[in-house]
Amino acid sequence: MARRPVPVIMDCDTGVDDALALLLAVRHPGIELRAVTCVAGNTDVDGVVRNTLTVLERAGAPEIPVGRGAERPLLEPVRPATHAHGADGMGDLGLPAPSRGPADADAVTLLRREILASHRPVTLVPTAPLTNIALLLRTHPEVTRNIERIVFMGGAVEVGNATPVAEFNVWHDPEAAAVLLTAGVPITMYGLDVFRQVVVDAGEVRRLRASGDPGARLAGELLAYRPAAQGRPPGADEAGGLGDAGAVCAVADPEGLTTRRLPVEVCLAPGPARGQTIVDRRLGPGEAEIHHGERERPLVDVALEVDAERYARLYVETVGRL
Ligand code: BDR
Ligand code: CA
Repeated sequence: MARRPVPVIMDCDTGVDDALALLLAVRHPGIELRAVTCVAGNTDVDGVVRNTLTVLERAGAPEIPVGRGAERPLLEPVRPATHAHGADGMGDLGLPAPSRGPADADAVTLLRREILASHRPVTLVPTAPLTNIALLLRTHPEVTRNIERIVFMGGAVEVGNATPVAEFNVWHDPEAAAVLLTAGVPITMYGLDVFRQVVVDAGEVRRLRASGDPGARLAGELLAYRPAAQGRPPGADEAGGLGDAGAVCAVADPEGLTTRRLPVEVCLAPGPARGQTIVDRRLGPGEAEIHHGERERPLVDVALEVDAERYARLYVETVGRL
């Protein structure tokens, strides 16, 4: 018997790869996308709202409610990533402005409403700094009773990107990430270790770009996008990473991901490790625990390996409507 679609709410900073993630969430038959909330990250929050509405229109899902959320992180200043995502935050593709605006309700109100109204527990998929989610958990803690799991793109076991050890989404708002980890619901961390691995090859990107379907074509353009600073000769390899869309693959097809339940903490101290996700992969207690006892730390299902080909195929077949 076919599985019933999973009710999903995404929280994005759209964002080239957030846009890829939205296209997949809208089109995958195993996902019922109930709402999308927006937060400052890759670009300012109004740019994120505009980009999100544009993508949903292109994807053929103009009715999904979009909530405008936090303008800045809890403590940190805004630090956009337009050098990586373009001046408009979504690849400067010259897309027309969306024909509607966001919902009247702000992101936290919309999240609460949609989570509690869902007939089945919701899977939350944040692919952005976790400011909205932290505000939600602190304002309306009762929502956790109807959250099945949070699958977030963020963190890294090994190497960071914003700093040598910190990943952008966690680094942008470390306090918010720390609140998320202690939400008391099952959490999957889809971090940089797997995020970087899932790539759509050049032939498939070309095929998507040539599609007559606006959603598939947009996916092709986004996959082919490179920031100007990276420069690329015409006709060069157009393979493109799925990035945030891999976290949606992890909801649609959890068997493609290998996870281990491990203690994870966010470093909140000022200095070079701030924003690092410290993942404890030791096999037993160390001297710290032997002398001072175990500290309580949240357990998270950390993605350690991904079947990259499987997820790339899932993406192309779903968004390209094969
Ligand atoms: C994350 O940062 C953003 O640039 C991407 O959209 C992704 O969510 C990767 O560190
Ligand atoms: Ca993102």
